[in-house]
Amino acid sequence: MGHPTLLTDPVAFQTAMLEWYRAHRRRLPWREEPSLYRTVVSEFMLQQTQVKTMLPYFARWLEALPDFAALAAADESRVVKLWEGLGYYTRARNLHKLARALVAMPAIPHDREAWLALPGVGPYASAAITSISFGTPAAVVDGNVVRILARLTADGTAFRDTTTAGKAFTPLADSLLNLAAPGDHNQAMMELGATVCTRHNPLCTVCPVRRFCAGARSGEPEAFPRLAAKRIEAVTTLRAWCVRPSAGEGSAQAELLLHRTATSARRLAGQHELPSAEHLGFAPAELAAAGPLLATRKRGITRFAFTEPIHALPARLLPRPLPAGLVWVPISELETVLLSGPHRRWVRELLAASPAPDA
Ligand code: ADE
Repeated sequence: MGHPTLLTDPVAFQTAMLEWYRAHRRRLPWREEPSLYRTVVSEFMLQQTQVKTMLPYFARWLEALPDFAALAAADESRVVKLWEGLGYYTRARNLHKLARALVAMPAIPHDREAWLALPGVGPYASAAITSISFGTPAAVVDGNVVRILARLTADGTAFRDTTTAGKAFTPLADSLLNLAAPGDHNQAMMELGATVCTRHNPLCTVCPVRRFCAGARSGEPEAFPRLAAKRIEAVTTLRAWCVRPSAGEGSAQAELLLHRTATSARRLAGQHELPSAEHLGFAPAELAAAGPLLATRKRGITRFAFTEPIHALPARLLPRPLPAGLVWVPISELETVLLSGPHRRWVRELLAASPAPDA
């Protein structure tokens, strides 16, 4: 007997997915106590962030801003602060705008096209939100779904990137959508991709749809999908660690020099980071010569691999007047300002190592 295929027996595939999801899904707060608000917040957070990372943020967010009305009424600075550490802050700003747009509407739309027109809602979020919240028949195609479909069909096409692959697999995703339960079907696909059909070492032995899978039969499921390797660009940015005693009389307080990105900037808007040589108006070699290397840290942002050597900079060597965007922040107040996730971690580490202020 031949294998059942997606095309000859889509109903068997859908049933296997749904039964697996209903028995094995992770019990996540937005699933067990669903609401439109919880679905929207979780889907915004889950774009670019994994479940285990975002869970504490999700809990804090719901505590602080329990519904669309509270979110719409909040100041942007509070919204962005609650997002601190999740990165890609455009998501937070868009979620805020989305709440304001929704509370101004006479009725919440249920169709995908209307959601696509809302702030921050693209093809992925519109399908996820409307299928989960309203049962709208819209198939989600994210990186997880692309991986599953490429493996099921052992499709060896070389794709430029996940977006291109997503477009190619959209007709198949649409044809497999379980119209009786679009939200659970979509979540089942994403869940399978996150927990079983993983990028590396997929757990084929426990996969509910293994009998449909040409990739598993090929013995090399990890070969699918074929995606061009991302071109990663290495960038080195020197950073200054500059601490001075507070101006206050008899104060034992110290202040740390930070750079605050303009609120109007596209990236890192309103966020603080340790100042770079460029922020200070120094050539990298000048900053490197100004003081000892305290630490070298690395982080990735989109397709850039940043290396950030952090040099101590005595305050007396600072340019006067201080260039725009540079601010002194009392160390006791660091928690109240918006710091990028990696820089908050590095600042904590360096404070723990506690280099003495050197004026
Ligand atoms: N990733 C993004 N949204 C998801 C969801 N609803 N279920 C599983 N994984 C997801």
